[in-house]
Amino acid sequence: MRIVTSIATMQRQARQWQRTGKRIGFVPTMGYLHAGHMSLVKRARQAAGKSGGVVVSIYVNPTQFGPKEDFSKYPRDLKRDLKLCREAGVDVVFTPSDMEMYPQVGSSRRDDRTARRAVPTKFSTYVVEENLSRTMEGASRPMHFRGVTTVVAKLFNLVLPDVAVFGAKDWQQAAIIKRMAADLNFPVKIIVAPTLRERDGLAMSSRNKYLEGDLRRQATVLWRAIQAARFAIRKFPVPQHRLKAQLKQLIESEPNAKLDYIEFFNSETLAPVSTVRFRTHMALAVFVGKTRLIDNAQL
Ligand code: PAJ
Repeated sequence: MRIVTSIATMQRQARQWQRTGKRIGFVPTMGYLHAGHMSLVKRARQAAGKSGGVVVSIYVNPTQFGPKEDFSKYPRDLKRDLKLCREAGVDVVFTPSDMEMYPQVGSSRRDDRTARRAVPTKFSTYVVEENLSRTMEGASRPMHFRGVTTVVAKLFNLVLPDVAVFGAKDWQQAAIIKRMAADLNFPVKIIVAPTLRERDGLAMSSRNKYLEGDLRRQATVLWRAIQAARFAIRKFPVPQHRLKAQLKQLIESEPNAKLDYIEFFNSETLAPVSTVRFRTHMALAVFVGKTRLIDNAQL
């Protein structure tokens, strides 16, 4: 397994694969890998074929974190991540530095400060999806998806994937990436792979590491809310505002849980619906203590 930190080397490797007719499968991550990430790697291997190239990027992307979010304490364990990738038969792990990805923005997050300066930094071009990004995560975390689409567009240009695999765990993100790839004609097929969960239903996430003591138990309330929604609509459709109120009450019956949002929408278009029925998509974000968790499912 090759560990690549430079953009030039990554592009050289990708071009060499392309020249020799090998398919490239790609899984972008922010590291602290868990079984959910590794299921995407498996899917990428299937898509690339035995002799194809599988690339996992590990990069905690500063531009997708808000100023009050957890960028600096986001969990990192590169050594463990590399071991997991090696065992999974990954060909290349791409772990660029901030300097490499955002020249002169620097390794500490100067993005906000430099943005206000008259003299621009070297990095000044962003990719912005303007439709699907407005709701849910986009409404709660301004600039988040701008950071995601920008870094994923850059990574696509570096890794030159034929196939890229994203998790259904971040349903809105996957929809936005699909839209970006279509709108900007990236020659890549986007695959969305199912959400992997712990035995008690909690969606696997690098941020679950933050959940200590009873918070870990309380965190299952996101999954319980999805199950409760399924139960509530099992016979008749229900107006979204009524179901929302019911689920908010369920969620906030946990002492340390605070609802950020629940939305009901069409799985494909993300358009909100006024009535919740079989196959309506539900997504929610909940603070459990200080940790913000998200989950979603088709009902
Ligand atoms: P990260 O949160 O590390 O997630 C990397 C990929 O793993 C995403 O496609 C995410 O949806 C998927 N994933 C996370 N938890 C999962 C689970 N329990 N089951 C299945 N898939 C899961 O998402 C990001 O990083 C970043 O925004 C990124 C796309 C890398 C851009 O920086």
